[in-house]
Amino acid sequence: IIPRVKAVDAKESTDGNPVLIKGWVRTIRKQKTLAFVEVNDGSNMNGIQCVLSFDDIDEETKKELARVTTGCSVVVEGPLVKSQGGKQTVEVAATKLRVVGECPGDAYPLAKKRHSLEYLRTLAHLRPRTNTIAAVARVRSQLAGSIHAFFQKTGFVYVQTPLITASDCEGAGELFRVTTLDIDNASSLPLVKTEDGKDTTDIVDSSQDFFGKPAYLTVSGQLGGETYASAMGDIYTFGPTFRAENSQTTRHLAEFHMVEPEMAFADLDSAMENAEQMLKFVVKHVLDNCQEDLTFFGKFYDKGLIARLEKLVAQPFVRISYRDAIKYLQEEIAKDPSKWQFPEVEFGTDLSTEHERWLAETKFDSAVFVYNYPKSIKAFYMRDNDEDGGETVNAMDLLVPGVGELVGGSQREERLDTLLDKMKEQDLDPDDYWWYLDLRRFGSVPHSGYGLGFERLVTYVCGMENIREAIAFPRYPGHAEF
Ligand code: 4AD
Ligand code: MG
Repeated sequence: IIPRVKAVDAKESTDGNPVLIKGWVRTIRKQKTLAFVEVNDGSNMNGIQCVLSFDDIDEETKKELARVTTGCSVVVEGPLVKSQGGKQTVEVAATKLRVVGECPGDAYPLAKKRHSLEYLRTLAHLRPRTNTIAAVARVRSQLAGSIHAFFQKTGFVYVQTPLITASDCEGAGELFRVTTLDIDNASSLPLVKTEDGKDTTDIVDSSQDFFGKPAYLTVSGQLGGETYASAMGDIYTFGPTFRAENSQTTRHLAEFHMVEPEMAFADLDSAMENAEQMLKFVVKHVLDNCQEDLTFFGKFYDKGLIARLEKLVAQPFVRISYRDAIKYLQEEIAKDPSKWQFPEVEFGTDLSTEHERWLAETKFDSAVFVYNYPKSIKAFYMRDNDEDGGETVNAMDLLVPGVGELVGGSQREERLDTLLDKMKEQDLDPDDYWWYLDLRRFGSVPHSGYGLGFERLVTYVCGMENIREAIAFPRYPGHAEF
């Protein structure tokens, strides 16, 4: 049996035995006595070159060569030898090639070499065959693996919190409602008019019967995470979250993934410390393991990328209070307010991406924690900051160059009475959160945690401009193609 070798693992053979290469053809060049077929199997950037000498191949292979086009799938057989060309170190001295699936060149949307990232978004099913999206996918996978590795090695328990929930963790009202579609009865439903005047059967929402109350897709696993932290100490979740944010920005998705550690017996400083250590660990992992892909991003998308990532690993993150952040911004904006889209900044302002990026990129050129935010712009569960005149909560955001907010976290309000007051202030019904309040009744403990937007991390590490490149099938307003 002939072993299969992935392009990334291909090394010059010592015994001259053949191997199999299985992948998709990127290019084919034919000369008088030779053909060069570049096969990409997704394991690395450049795939592997297969050289077919017409003297060494059988009749069948010669016929097959006529069917080889960009995009077709092939199996190639031959020994791995030192490459004659300068581009690569090893190549396949192919003796056999078989086309597995043809790819008609005139119909194949990726037949031409260069495409804009925007155009590729319309081909989400084919774009992983491009250098950029495949490299993002590899780096994303390495990031996910190293996030688990970090938490596992530091004794955190991985908890999967539900995607269907009855509570709005962030209280921002950006929930997708979960409804059931009564397909059996669909034809017997009354016809109603849609907004543009077409007949449709109304959708029957029986989810209230199903769950006994309205249900939603979760915006965050935090509240569930807190219950397990209140029993097991250190836990983390890592899963999909959903927000019906009607924003067409380069930083927001309707479906994204969040990494949410939650730590008992921990204050806000511990949460910041953990976020810094975790980020340094995973970025170092990628620097060590994804050199080829990062070099590609540095060359084609973001010249300063690798230096910036190396700096993130090497330097302590800056920590400033929200009040200081406002002061720095006011001083800078006063110099020339016309340069700013949002020049009004005062205590109570929710910082916009423009403000966040100025702090991280221009002011500090570093990852920056901003802590002690005004109570008025933050969620009900954040711990009141007793030292700060009652105006702020123990919350933090981590801002990074190129992206802005990457992490949001806080120390949680562990005092039952204070939490009840805060819920009242935000018009939340304590009955809906009885179980959450129980955690404050039975062995309450100071605890803290944060949420890292995984796609924002991928965007940052890959030097992409738009978060829509950081996830396989981006969902945003108007876009859920399949
Ligand atoms: O700041 P957020 O809203 O915090 C929470 O949800 C907390 N419950 C987390 C916690 O403390 N356990 O969201 C956390 C992070 C943001 O910093 C951002 O990186 C990302 O999630 N995020 C989004 N990423 C992509 N698309 C969106 N629509 C996002 N909304 C938030
Ligand atoms: Mg936030």
